[in-house]
Amino acid sequence: MSVEQSIAHQSLDEIRAQALNEIKTAVTAEDVQELNTRYLGRKGVMTQVLRTIANLPAEERPAAGRQANQVKQQIDTACRETLARLAAGAQHLERLDVSLPGRSAAPGGLHPLTRITRRICDIFTRMGFEVVEGPEVESDYYNFEALNFPKDHPARDMQDTFFVSDDIVLRTHTSPAQPRVMEKRQPPVRIIAPGKVYRCDSDLTHTPMFHQVEGLLVDEGVCFGDLKGTLTAFVHQMFDEQIKVRFRPSFFPFTEPSAEVDILCVICRGTGCRVCSQTGWLEILGSGMVHPAVLENVGYDTRRVTGFAFGMGVERITMLKYGVDDIRKYFENDIRFLRQF
Ligand code: DAH
Repeated sequence: MSVEQSIAHQSLDEIRAQALNEIKTAVTAEDVQELNTRYLGRKGVMTQVLRTIANLPAEERPAAGRQANQVKQQIDTACRETLARLAAGAQHLERLDVSLPGRSAAPGGLHPLTRITRRICDIFTRMGFEVVEGPEVESDYYNFEALNFPKDHPARDMQDTFFVSDDIVLRTHTSPAQPRVMEKRQPPVRIIAPGKVYRCDSDLTHTPMFHQVEGLLVDEGVCFGDLKGTLTAFVHQMFDEQIKVRFRPSFFPFTEPSAEVDILCVICRGTGCRVCSQTGWLEILGSGMVHPAVLENVGYDTRRVTGFAFGMGVERITMLKYGVDDIRKYFENDIRFLRQF
C-alpha cells in the first residue's frame, strides 16, 4: 500500500466516522444542512478527497473511487434520515405542547322545548300518567274521524292541515294518541303523549311545526272536578302555587263539555300587559270531558266509563316560562339564544 493510498484510506474511514457522528448528534435541521454542505458540497471534504484519488496510480483509482462514493452515499443517507427524524420530532413536540392554554369543551345542553316537554311529562308521570308516542304522519281516521270530526265538519277548517294524500295527513294535533291508545287497551287509561304537530301557518306566534302534549284519563266515575283538580295541580307545579287558574267554556268536537284553561298572567299577575294583551289572563291549554262518540268509536261502554282529555302547546308554555315572545327563536338554532337556558 502506498503512502498516499494509506492516507486516503485512513482519512476516508475517519471522515466517515466523524461525519456520521456529527450528523447524528445535530440538533436542528440547519445544523444538518450545514454538515451536508461541509461534506458533500462543491468545495466540501468529499470533493477534495475525490480530487486526491485522481492522483493515485491508475490501478488503485477504481477501488478508492468506489469507496469514496460509498462514503458520500452514507453521509447523504445519514443527512436525510436525521432531517426526517428532526421533522417528526418537531411535530411530536407541537402535538404535546403542554404550555399551550387548553381548549375548553363547550358543554351541551337540552333545547328549551325539550326541557319543558320533559318537565310537563314529569309532572303528569308523578300523578300516574304513562308517556306514549304516536306517528307524525297520520291517517285522516285517527287525526279527525275517530275524534268526532266528521268529513266536511267546519272544525276541520281551523286545523290548517298539510295533506300527504286524500286520507293521510301530517298530524295537526297530538289528540290521535287518544283513539290509538284506547283501541288497544281497556280502562283505566291514563296517558300523556308529547310530540311534533304540523299546521300550515307561519308568523310571530306560529310555526308550521310545533309541539304539543296530549293527556287522557278514562275510568269509572271520572267527572269534571277531576279534570279541574288535575289541571290546577299541573299549573301549580309548572308555574307556582300562587298562580290562579280559570276554566272558560269552549268547543272541541271530541270533548263535551269543553273548556279552555287560562292562568293569571305570569308577567303582570293580572294587572294587564303586552304579553296578556291587557286581559290579565293567558290561555295555556284546551280540555274537556271525552265526548261519548269518541269512546264509542273505540268500543268503550259509555254507561260504565267517562274520561277527560287535554292538550297544550309546548312552545306557548316555554315562552311564558322563559319570557320569550318570538316563537321563531326556538327554531333558528342560534347558539347565543340557546345557551341562555
Ligand atoms: N287538539 C286540540 C288542538 O290541537 C287541543 C285539545 C283540546 C286537546 C281539548 C284535547 C282537548 O285533548 O280535550 O287544538
